[in-house]
Amino acid sequence: MYSKKKKQARVKEKESASGNNFVRGRFKDDISGITADFTSSLDIDKRLADFDIAGSIAHLYALRKAGVVSEKEKKEIEKSLLKIKEDIKTGAFKFDKRYEDIHMNIEKKLTMLAPVSGAKLHTARSRNDQVSIDFRLYVKNEIKKVAGALIALRFELIDIAKNHIDAIFPGYTHLQHAQPVSLAHHISAYYEMFTRDFERLINCYAAADVLTLGSGALAGVDFEIDRQLEAKMLGFAKISRNSMDGVSDRDFALEFNFALSMIMMHLSRFCEELIIWNSEEFGFIELKDEFTTGSSIMPQKKNPDVLELIRGKTGGVISNLLSLFIMMKALPLTYNRDMQEDKKPVMESTDTVYNSILIFTEIIKTVKFNAKNMRSKLDDDFIYATDIATYLVKKGIPFRKSHEIVGRIVNYAKENKKTLSKLKVEEYKKICGGIENDIFEVLNPLASVGLKKSYGGTALNRVKSIINDYEEEIERNKKSLERLER
Ligand code: ARG
Repeated sequence: MYSKKKKQARVKEKESASGNNFVRGRFKDDISGITADFTSSLDIDKRLADFDIAGSIAHLYALRKAGVVSEKEKKEIEKSLLKIKEDIKTGAFKFDKRYEDIHMNIEKKLTMLAPVSGAKLHTARSRNDQVSIDFRLYVKNEIKKVAGALIALRFELIDIAKNHIDAIFPGYTHLQHAQPVSLAHHISAYYEMFTRDFERLINCYAAADVLTLGSGALAGVDFEIDRQLEAKMLGFAKISRNSMDGVSDRDFALEFNFALSMIMMHLSRFCEELIIWNSEEFGFIELKDEFTTGSSIMPQKKNPDVLELIRGKTGGVISNLLSLFIMMKALPLTYNRDMQEDKKPVMESTDTVYNSILIFTEIIKTVKFNAKNMRSKLDDDFIYATDIATYLVKKGIPFRKSHEIVGRIVNYAKENKKTLSKLKVEEYKKICGGIENDIFEVLNPLASVGLKKSYGGTALNRVKSIINDYEEEIERNKKSLERLER
C-alpha cells in the first residue's frame, strides 16, 4: 500500500516537471515537482515578456549578421517571436509553470512554432545575460514612468506655491512655532526634494543604460556577435566592457531602489505633514472627500487614510532596498541563483512608488489650504522673538546679548499672561532701555519674512524669483525626459 502510493507520487512528479526536459540533457532524473515550483520565477518575471522578446530579436539580428542563422530562419524566428508577443498581449499565451521562467516559456513556445530555426536562437547567449538585459530594459522603462509622474507632481507644487506666496504661517522646528514663513516657501521645499529625486532617477537611468547582452553565461560569447548593433536596436547608450561584471552587476537595480526609497521617504514626510495639518487642532487644510474615509463607529470622522497608507507603505519600499542589498552582499562572481530574487523587490517598490506619486498628486492638487487659519496661528506672537533679537542687534547690541534680553522679555510676557504686542513700550524699556516704539513694527508677518532676504530665504520676492527659476528648470527636465523617451 505504502509503496504503491510512493510510486504514484513519483509518476505524478515526473509528469508535472517533465517540461524542463529541454534543458535537461545531462540529467538522468527529472526535476521534482516541488523543486520546479520552488525554483520557478515565472510569476514575477512574466512581466518582462516584451523586453525578453525585444532582446531576443536584437540577438537574432546579431546571429544573422554572424551567419549563424539564414535570412529565411531569421524571418521565421522573428515572426514566431512576434506571434508570441501578440499572444501574450491578448492573453492567448499559455504560461507553463514547468518552464522555470519567462525566458524558457518563450523559448519553448518558439521551438514549437519553429522547431528547427527556433532551436538556434539561444546560440551565443545565456539566460544570465538574457535576465540582465530584460531587467535593464524594464528598469529603464520604469524610470521614465516614475520620472514622468514626478514631473507632474512638481508642476502641481509650482502651481500651489505660485498661488500662496503671501500666505504666511508658522514655520516649525521640533513641531513648535519657530519663525513665520511663506506657504509657498514650505511647498517649494518639497519641490526641491522631488527635483533631487528626479535627477537621481536620471542618473540611475545612465547606470541601467548599458547593454550586457553578449556577455554569455560569464565569459563572453563565440561567433561574431555585433554588440553595437544590439545596443542600437535596443536603445542602449553603452555596451558593457566586462562579461563577468555584465552578468552579475545589479548596481542599477540597487540605485533605482534607492531612488525609489528616497522618493517614498519624501512623500511620507509630506503625508505626515498633511495629516497633521488636517487635524482639528491645526485645521490648515481640507482634504477632498474622495481621498478620505469615514469611521465605522464615529460619524464625525474624515480620516486621511490615503496619506497614512503612503506613509505606511514607505517601510516596505525601504525594506525592499535592504533585501536587495542583503541578497547581493555575499555573492561571488558571477551569476548565482540568489539573483533571481532581484526582480521582486524592484517591481514591488516601483509599483508602490509610482501609484503613490499618482494619488498623492491628485490629493495635493485638490487640497484646500485654509490660509486664514494658518495666519491666525501667528497671533501667538512669540514667533517674532528672533526678529526682536535682530532688532536689538541693529541697535548695536551683540546677538548673544540680545538673545538673552529677548529671553527675558518672553519670560516677562508669559508670566504676565501677555503677548509680545500687548506689552507696553515702558515694560520693554524696563528690560532693555534701547527699545523704542518701533519695536511693534517688527511684530508683523510681512515684516518678519521680508527680513529673511538671503538667497534661499523666505522673503516674498526671493520666493517668487526662485519659483520663476523652477518654471524654467522643470521645462528643461521635461525636455531631457522626452529625449530619453525617443
Ligand atoms: N530564472 C533565473 C533568474 O531569473 C534564470 C537564470 C538562469 N541562469 C542560471 N544559471 N540558472 O535569475
